[in-house]
Amino acid sequence: MDWFNHNHMPVEGRTILLTGGSEGTGFSAARIFSSKGANVIIVSRNPIKLEEAIEALRAAAKCPRTQRFHTIEADVAEPNYAEGVVADATAWNRGVPPEIVWCLAGIATPMLWTDDGAMKAARYNMDVNYFGSAELSRAMMRAWLLAEQEKKRYLIPDPRPPPKHIIFTGPITSTLVATAGHAPHAPSRFALRALADALAMETRLYPDLPMAVHLVLPHPAAAAAASYDEARPHSTIAPPQIKGAETPQDPDDAARAAIAGIERGRYFVATSWLGELVRWGAIGGSPRNSWVVDTLMGWVVPLVMAFWMWDLRAQVAAWNQKKKVL
Ligand SMILES: NC(=O)c1ccc[n+]([C@@H]2O[C@H](COP(=O)([O-])OP(=O)(O)OC[C@H]3O[C@@H](n4cnc5c(N)ncnc54)[C@H](OP(=O)(O)O)[C@@H]3O)[C@@H](O)[C@H]2O)c1
Repeated sequence: MDWFNHNHMPVEGRTILLTGGSEGTGFSAARIFSSKGANVIIVSRNPIKLEEAIEALRAAAKCPRTQRFHTIEADVAEPNYAEGVVADATAWNRGVPPEIVWCLAGIATPMLWTDDGAMKAARYNMDVNYFGSAELSRAMMRAWLLAEQEKKRYLIPDPRPPPKHIIFTGPITSTLVATAGHAPHAPSRFALRALADALAMETRLYPDLPMAVHLVLPHPAAAAAASYDEARPHSTIAPPQIKGAETPQDPDDAARAAIAGIERGRYFVATSWLGELVRWGAIGGSPRNSWVVDTLMGWVVPLVMAFWMWDLRAQVAAWNQKKKVL
């Protein structure tokens, strides 16, 4: 990065924790961080996938002799899982909480609201997508604040440290626009956006402990993604798609674009041009990446959104005629 493009999230020598880091976009991001010299902790449920992933992260390391890697087996849907994860990560990281946390573990359950099991799916989506990220961000912030208090108590001099980062993840559609077929899923992502907006403001309460909040909005990934396939057998429909979202994005490309956006200091981090358009159309009172550009585009893009919404409704009407679901 040059003088004009200051890197807002240097990672070399720092420790990063990623949930959902064993595959998909989370794994791709973990591998990029490893190649940039970070120590990496990945969290997911399956120990075999975790071990395979950690070997690949070691192989990608910039300085294999000094970088360290760790796995934590945890289910983010379990209430109170995060305190144990943060304690484990801090103990492994020589008593210092990881400086960057990226919540990627997530699922999507495309179903109709009247399908059998939709309410159970809605609760589970909330547990994984919302509470899974919410609990971890809270446990992490509390650990950072505690560490800061300890430093002050022992008068340990600390020049203004580089910001800590809390990174949330939600698909562009479902996080910013809710469509038919995503009723059990989208509310968990809308809630996540509200949390990210609130924390982006709340973290300003701690000027001595700079914290940056980001909301990564990946473009739809390859259809083989586990987060989607796992849910597919429940689904009776293919939810309508925003025009332009049909071509899937490779997880490596999504991770690269997301990290580049975070390094530029963005709050909303879309990984494709479509994501940029949708976020402008739905920006509301959320923090801006750029006050001028986002405000101008926030006036223009809702006009485009009107056509998108018209098209989405038309897709549902066509699908209704074909399947005679109502
Ligand atoms: N795929 C898409 O089209 C798409 C588009 C936009 C956004 N997203 C979102 O972006 C994120 C990454 O998606 P992806 O498709 O790249 O990932 P993915 O390939 O589906 O991998 C999901 C990761 O999350 C872990 N995970 C799932 N449920 C978990 C749980 N309850 N507790 C702990 N770990 C759990 C999985 O490991 P284990 O199964 O071993 O636990 C795996 O490491 C997700 O939040 C997803 O919803 C996906």
